[in-house]
Amino acid sequence: MKSAFLVLVFSVTAAIAAGVTIPGEGAYSVANLQGLSDEPTSVTQPLANQLLDVLEKYGLTKNFGVVGVHSHVSLAPGQVMFQHGNSTFTHQEIEVYDDVRSDGVPYTYRIMTDAIPQLLPLDLGEITPNVLAARNDLAAAMANKAFLQEFAETASGHLAGIAYIRPLERMALEHSEVVKNHYNVEKTAGNATAISLAAVESDDAPSFFTRGVGNSTAVSQITMFVPHGNPWQD
Ligand SMILES: *[C@@H]1O[C@H](CO)[C@@H](O)[C@H](O)[C@H]1NC(C)=O
Ligand SMILES: *[C@@H]1O[C@H](CO)[C@@H](O)[C@H](O)[C@H]1NC(C)=O
Ligand SMILES: *[C@@H]1O[C@H](CO)[C@@H](O)[C@H](O)[C@H]1NC(C)=O
Repeated sequence: MKSAFLVLVFSVTAAIAAGVTIPGEGAYSVANLQGLSDEPTSVTQPLANQLLDVLEKYGLTKNFGVVGVHSHVSLAPGQVMFQHGNSTFTHQEIEVYDDVRSDGVPYTYRIMTDAIPQLLPLDLGEITPNVLAARNDLAAAMANKAFLQEFAETASGHLAGIAYIRPLERMALEHSEVVKNHYNVEKTAGNATAISLAAVESDDAPSFFTRGVGNSTAVSQITMFVPHGNPWQD
């Protein structure tokens, strides 16, 4: 009886920190990143357009975009990538999940396209009013089981997911720029900043697609690039 009470208190506290409980949100685990490579190329722009149609139908395009899920780091069990930042710079590094779980909420999710689709957190980021507003949108979309089902059917086995549109991407889009990730050689930390479209290199791989953000009216806006080929030196 007593332990049931403690569990209840704990989950209520966690729910307050996260602002809102998202129906069907999976638990974070390093296993959620299983099978991901450093190349986000499974999601092409035409597929991103179709997946953004699903997001738009469920009221998510204001705060979420479509991501070609990938991973640059190799995490040990119990570890998580945690990010914080602002509209011009974000930093992410490896943390112990149990140490930071109450300080963050997932920013990126993988959507498994199995018979029963799953929304699986891939990382954590700091809790801000904007990300809590985004979680409200996601909770509303997830309350309708058709959302995940339609996303998974459209993704049809491709390594796809959704991610919160951070102030960094929003600012970049408003200035006709894109965001680029840079990782350290040890693959334990990364920074992201906005660069001009002219500074995009031919082997940079687009990884994040949004719609209706900033001044663009494009069907999908490419907002983030990860260097590939030789990612760790970029
Ligand atoms: C964002 O954070 C970086 C690093 O802490 C800082 O240099 C920069 O001035 C900040 N930008 C804004 C707009 O606050
Ligand atoms: C885009 O719109 C924002 C306001 O949302 C404005 O501040 C900015 O100057 C605009 N950028 C361009 C390139 O028109
Ligand atoms: C990220 O930015 C910080 C602060 O500017 C810098 O000290 C660090 O070396 C950068 N790390 C990477 C991986 O670029």
